[in-house]
Amino acid sequence: MESFINEVNFFNGNDPEELVREYGTPVYIYNEDILRNRMETVSRIITKYPYTANYSVKANTNIHILKMALEEGNNCDAMSVGEIKMLEAAGFSYDRIFFVPNNVTDDELLYAIDRNIMISVDSLAQLKAVGKLNRGGKIAVRINPGVGAGHCDKVITAGKRTKFGISEEDIDEMLALANRYNLKIVGINQHIGSLFMEPEPYLAAVSNLLRIALQFEDLEFIDFGGGYGIPYHKLDGEKEFDMADLSARLEPILDEFVQAYGRTPVFKSEPGRYCVAEGSVLLGRVNSVKHNSGSKYVGTDIGMNVLVRPSMYNSWHDVEFLRDGKTLPREDMEETTVCGNICESGDLLAVNRQLPKAKRGDLACLLDTGAYGYSMSSTYNSRPRPAEVLICRDGSVKQIRRRETYEDLLQYM
Ligand code: LLP
Repeated sequence: MESFINEVNFFNGNDPEELVREYGTPVYIYNEDILRNRMETVSRIITKYPYTANYSVKANTNIHILKMALEEGNNCDAMSVGEIKMLEAAGFSYDRIFFVPNNVTDDELLYAIDRNIMISVDSLAQLKAVGKLNRGGKIAVRINPGVGAGHCDKVITAGKRTKFGISEEDIDEMLALANRYNLKIVGINQHIGSLFMEPEPYLAAVSNLLRIALQFEDLEFIDFGGGYGIPYHKLDGEKEFDMADLSARLEPILDEFVQAYGRTPVFKSEPGRYCVAEGSVLLGRVNSVKHNSGSKYVGTDIGMNVLVRPSMYNSWHDVEFLRDGKTLPREDMEETTVCGNICESGDLLAVNRQLPKAKRGDLACLLDTGAYGYSMSSTYNSRPRPAEVLICRDGSVKQIRRRETYEDLLQYM
């Protein structure tokens, strides 16, 4: 692919130079059409049986994006009280929120219990804590299915080496504990990890969870987790995750389970990245170009505080350069390292890439930044967080979060 932003008409008729004149750099730009399409797609992964997609809001908690998820019919999963509060503000009713926390305090559990929000516990200790706080209540448990998958060790959340979930060998103890506090286990969930492009590990984990589900008598729902990948290497021709293929291959597995279980629970999934990643690009200004010991460095104002994924996970984001609002063609390229403005050697966005020849004043455009971009940003080096801007379906432009100011940085002191 020569240029993603041109191919999908990402700016929908708007001149990116005008956008940054208005909102500054760095700036996250979102495309409403892509976001809504993705949210709609995940709401149809399972059609034969009762099903809800829980958008996993940790990927992006901008309230305007949460409202889109609500309008597209998604439920949500939350990891913290803060995320629940964002969902409340976006208009989600409590029955549409699934609280899937890890290592939380009694106060955090009580926040959900008091509002009748379904909680999933992921350790026997937390099961006991809920039992004491909500004797006789309903509860879900997060199973570690023993299979994990993901783009790097840091995002694999099942298998032998993870802090998440309750292992299969602890199920008897779990049932005894639930019994002791008269807790009714009405749901089981899992999440094997984040970003797989092939469906096999997910399907294997689904089959495995359904086998485990047969040990529970009264399940109202079974949640298979998220992790569906997106093509971060799209400029090199990487293809989309084949959701239709996943759906088709899920169906016979579910058929078999429903028959064996004798009833039909609601099935759920928890996609985060898939809903939002490709719906955003990050624009930053090239402030300097230099050569160090033969390497070319293109220095931008996109620091690791704005987008941490490359420095944290070695993640790949495709880069396009824009000059006077037009994409530089992918020809006459040279080996380039794109970096930010933070005082760390690891503040690198793209290392030793073949890229068009950028110069000072160009715009760097990082692709696929909608998931775990802004939501993982920080004010490291006392750099205010960027603005977020939405390109609406009708081509109009709306700021959906203002840029932080230096006064914001001082406000708690
Ligand atoms: N459900 C649970 C319980 C999770 O822990 C996660 C992600 C999801 C659902 C959504 O996963 P997704 O569909 O987005 O892959 N910061 C990392 C990803 C960490 C994911 C953490 N859990 C990254 O930037 O790649």
